[in-house]
Amino acid sequence: MILPVIMAGGSGSRLWPLSRRLYPKQFLPLLGEQTMLQETCARLAGLEHQPPLLVCGEDHRFMVAEQLRAASQPNSGIILEPAGRNTAPALALAALHATASGKEDPLLLVLAADHVIKEARAFLDAVITARAQAETGRLVTFGVVPTGPETGYGYIRRAQAEAPGSQPAFAVDEFVEKPDLDTAEQYVASGEFFWNSGMFLFRASRYLQELRTHRPDILASCEEAMTGSTVDADFVRPARGAFLACPAESIDYAVMEKTRDAVVVPMDCGWSDVGSWSALWEVSDKDTQGNTAIGDVILYDSRGCYVQSDRKLVAAIGLEDVVVVESDDAIMVATKDRVQDVKQVVEQLSAGN
Ligand code: GDD
Ligand code: MG
Repeated sequence: MILPVIMAGGSGSRLWPLSRRLYPKQFLPLLGEQTMLQETCARLAGLEHQPPLLVCGEDHRFMVAEQLRAASQPNSGIILEPAGRNTAPALALAALHATASGKEDPLLLVLAADHVIKEARAFLDAVITARAQAETGRLVTFGVVPTGPETGYGYIRRAQAEAPGSQPAFAVDEFVEKPDLDTAEQYVASGEFFWNSGMFLFRASRYLQELRTHRPDILASCEEAMTGSTVDADFVRPARGAFLACPAESIDYAVMEKTRDAVVVPMDCGWSDVGSWSALWEVSDKDTQGNTAIGDVILYDSRGCYVQSDRKLVAAIGLEDVVVVESDDAIMVATKDRVQDVKQVVEQLSAGN
């Protein structure tokens, strides 16, 4: 049986001023009516699966519980991290929780709560292909054809031959997390690499076994944290001290770069991790001039812009490739090719606090 594990612990600072530490993007309705977390759950309809298991920060517990309730979405538990230790520990908690009875060993479908997928059917087809691979003990990644030398992604070099079993899946020759720009350019030019989408499918025990081999320190802290965990309704609280002592590392560095058993299933489903305002513009509906206007917005003689307003009327004249976002207490204006630098603003703001 497939147990979706939804990671909802990110801070989403790249979509400031909409996305905030206490209100990161996974809890916002970025495209459409539902929040990204609710859409992550909704797109699983049509797949046979257990109710999802959530992993998020203690600070976000009410938001997660309320958004699931509002969508009438059952869950298999909400694991609350006392502080973020990145995704390798978050998933170790999930795998330990899922296998705690000693009887079950589900396939964990690891999902990010803050990704856009335009074609749910194509995504589910990839999961079904992946299931046959994961059942034989492999760790499946979902590969996206790269559109540029992005340095914020993992890169997966696929083997030439298809992996045995259902099609199409390839053995992974190499997994490189966040290469530098020169390397990313070579990878993209070679045509041999996929981007790692950040979603995975593997048996819970298989992931724990990989951690035991490659990062026994992470596994030991998480085992101790879960042995001392407490349960209060849906909320599962790992023991604080043990979890805080856990090293912070992502699954990509801790396991995926090291394992010999990775497989990649290509996925073409309109995926985006909406890692910036320009990425959000790319996946949003646009007018004939390539503008996205959300809220009370007038655009005159403007092209390729993303303009969003929560309360005031925003009028833009003669703008090209500019992002304007008006929120409760801040207005951000940036050219589309500089939107990654909102990170600098957020850092300045945090330093001032
Ligand atoms: N519960 C929990 N706890 N969730 C977390 C934590 C944590 O400590 N840290 C991150 N997450 C969640 C984020 O909310 C996001 O949904 C997901 O895990 C991935 O974390 P990111 O921080 O966004 O990772 P990334 O974007 O730098 O890189 C990953 O995703 C890329 C694709 O978007 C990697 O898997 C890359 O290889 C991949 O290309
Ligand atoms: Mg991300």
